[in-house]
Amino acid sequence: MGQKILVLEDLAAVQKEVRALRRAGKSIGFVPTMGYLHEGHISLIHLARRHTDHVFASIFVNPAQFNNPKDLESYPRDIPRDLAMLESANTYALFMPTPEWMYGPNFETWVNLDKLPLPHEGAHRPGHFRGVSTVVTMLFNVVQPDVAVFGEKDFQQLRIIERMVDDLKFPIQIVRGPLVRESDGLAMSSRNVRLSAEARSRALGISRGLSAALDAYKGGQRTAKELCAIVRHHLSQPGITIEYVELAEEKTLQPVERAGHEPTRMLVAAVVGGVRLIDNMALPPGLR
Ligand code: PAF
Repeated sequence: MGQKILVLEDLAAVQKEVRALRRAGKSIGFVPTMGYLHEGHISLIHLARRHTDHVFASIFVNPAQFNNPKDLESYPRDIPRDLAMLESANTYALFMPTPEWMYGPNFETWVNLDKLPLPHEGAHRPGHFRGVSTVVTMLFNVVQPDVAVFGEKDFQQLRIIERMVDDLKFPIQIVRGPLVRESDGLAMSSRNVRLSAEARSRALGISRGLSAALDAYKGGQRTAKELCAIVRHHLSQPGITIEYVELAEEKTLQPVERAGHEPTRMLVAAVVGGVRLIDNMALPPGLR
């Protein structure tokens, strides 16, 4: 077990800690989460610790980013377990605001981006990224970190935060945390706990399809049509509904017809046994 974690529930408590650390010349890292932590989150905490003296995490299941009320209701929660994991990873403090405080009765200020939220996730989850960019802005304003770490698992979210921080001149360095997989390849996600044994085994089609597409890319395949067809083939099973399989330019997230020129990503979302899963794979230029 690491140091005892401080649990902070309001702005004044966070500010007091942040000011004391700043006076002592310490830098602050930040990992925002929605809880029900797994090794992927803990890898982000370790990454933040490599960049800064003290790491703050937050747990807030943000109602504004759930377009489906059932998904919000069934989002897994286990605060005692999360606290133990954060403590073991030597997290300095945990910010756990209430929805009532975050979204007061007169709340009406939203942060929105024009283009990056439109394709992929945004096309299937209306309003989702407006909720994400707004809550991350609020969390940044409260914690005021030097460095914040976001996982590549939510690649579109990561690009949106990077753009927002650049555009709005947040004095925060965004660090990308690599996607963490289970030993069988399934991308780690808090939602995996909701998969039945059968659905979990079917869900492996996602990572297998992406790996097969990467192999084909390494073997010289460049067209989006063929690369996406490889992933779709692995997902053509009963019990899986594909939402999208796309090849997109990493910077703009716009779909491209060919990989190999600029950094591109294969992006996938599928509903497996009633659970919505996302995953992605980088296809960097020059890989052969
Ligand atoms: O990735 C998540 O867990 C959430 O979208 C985030 C960044 C904590 C905002 O609620």
